[in-house]
Amino acid sequence: MKIQRFSKIGFILAAAGSAVGLGNIWKFPYMTGEYGGGAFVAVYLITIAFIGFAVMIAEMLIGALGRADTVTSFERVAPKKKEWWRFAGFMGFNGIIIMTFYSVVIGWIFYYLFLVFGGLPQSTQEAKGIFNDLVANQVLIQIFFHTVAVILVGYIVYRGIKGGIEKINLILMPALMIILFGLLLYAFSLEGFSKALKFMFEPRWEDLNSEAFIRAIGHSFFTLSLGMGAIMTYAASLPKDASIPKTAFIVTFMDTLIALVAGLVIFSFLFEFGAQPSQGPGLVFISLPTILNNFGTLGTVFAFLFFLALAFAGITSAISLVEPVVQYLIDRFKFTRAKAVIVISLVYWIVGIGAILSYSNAWGKIFSIGGKPLFDILEYTTDSILLPLGGFLIAVFVGYVLQKERAYKYVGKEMGRRAFLIWRFSIRYIAPLALIFMMLNLMGIIKI
Ligand code: PHE
Repeated sequence: MKIQRFSKIGFILAAAGSAVGLGNIWKFPYMTGEYGGGAFVAVYLITIAFIGFAVMIAEMLIGALGRADTVTSFERVAPKKKEWWRFAGFMGFNGIIIMTFYSVVIGWIFYYLFLVFGGLPQSTQEAKGIFNDLVANQVLIQIFFHTVAVILVGYIVYRGIKGGIEKINLILMPALMIILFGLLLYAFSLEGFSKALKFMFEPRWEDLNSEAFIRAIGHSFFTLSLGMGAIMTYAASLPKDASIPKTAFIVTFMDTLIALVAGLVIFSFLFEFGAQPSQGPGLVFISLPTILNNFGTLGTVFAFLFFLALAFAGITSAISLVEPVVQYLIDRFKFTRAKAVIVISLVYWIVGIGAILSYSNAWGKIFSIGGKPLFDILEYTTDSILLPLGGFLIAVFVGYVLQKERAYKYVGKEMGRRAFLIWRFSIRYIAPLALIFMMLNLMGIIKI
């Protein structure tokens, strides 16, 4: 199987496109709001710097050395007699589980792109009504937009690394950045801006409960697309002369920057009119449209641009969630790309419908387990268990199984001896311990 290679900029934008997603623009702001602001952001930033960045380098390294799907890459990169590490490669399947609900949320965003033109809601009450009605009653509308998302994403992945994934990222990523930075420029002029800065960057440690702490660590993995082989699969197509540490740094930096910008934009608008930051997952679907209503026609334009940026971010991440398993089916089972895409898409399309139904009034009970809607179960399992587990395996593999000299040759030389040792320390000790600790905590086995 001949693997296509990205161009240098193509790889950076594709990896950044994977990282920058709903996690940055939808999830990060609402979690920051829910968990009280500054202290949550501080933990998130520290985890990204000391753990996320190191694991990103490790994940890219496996892909670049393996040059294949995740299972084959682990198999090839493992030293002799340790080929059973290939089973770690099944982390690629996490992407499909994530897609079951990720695609539903992209569907909501598509719906809102139309909705904003019908006029923005006048009050939070009205906005809540619209969002809750969509989720609880409008099953068919949701299935429709979920289907559109599945087809769109499937088509891009079908076009392959060069003709689909690289191309779409080269367009959507710059567009997304222009929109977000444009909105930030406007946010500068608002009085809410300084309040937003204060809310996000003034750590009030007393607000940081153990749940916030754990969720911040988990989110830093989700937002960097780590622990499920997306970055690894892309890195299999790394251009020959690209530098892994440098690229990982740029991707991590861009992802963090965009999350912070999105947060600042949203909170500036919210604080300008005294809205509450702690609205949960409905934050960008409920609070934001209501607030933007205060800006008249300009508000409609802002709302449209905002949801457009959100849609772009979602799509570029979604393709990286689907590609690992598609690549796996092509490499190992000789599927054609078209067949692989169709099979995978069908699977998550169907489960995604289950996720939609699990939030609905009419079907909710049937699609819940132990009182928890399927949607939440899927999200929780990936975010809190499977991604950290994947990250743990990557760190342990590169830290203990892969020969040190090999790692040095591919990433150490570039970083310099000292940075290399710090990086290795992180993936051997800090990252595995933090991840294990976090998983045990979330599973309720230990409690801090
Ligand atoms: N990083 C993406 C986001 O922030 C989600 C994602 C997770 C994408 C894992 C690929 C792999 O939305």
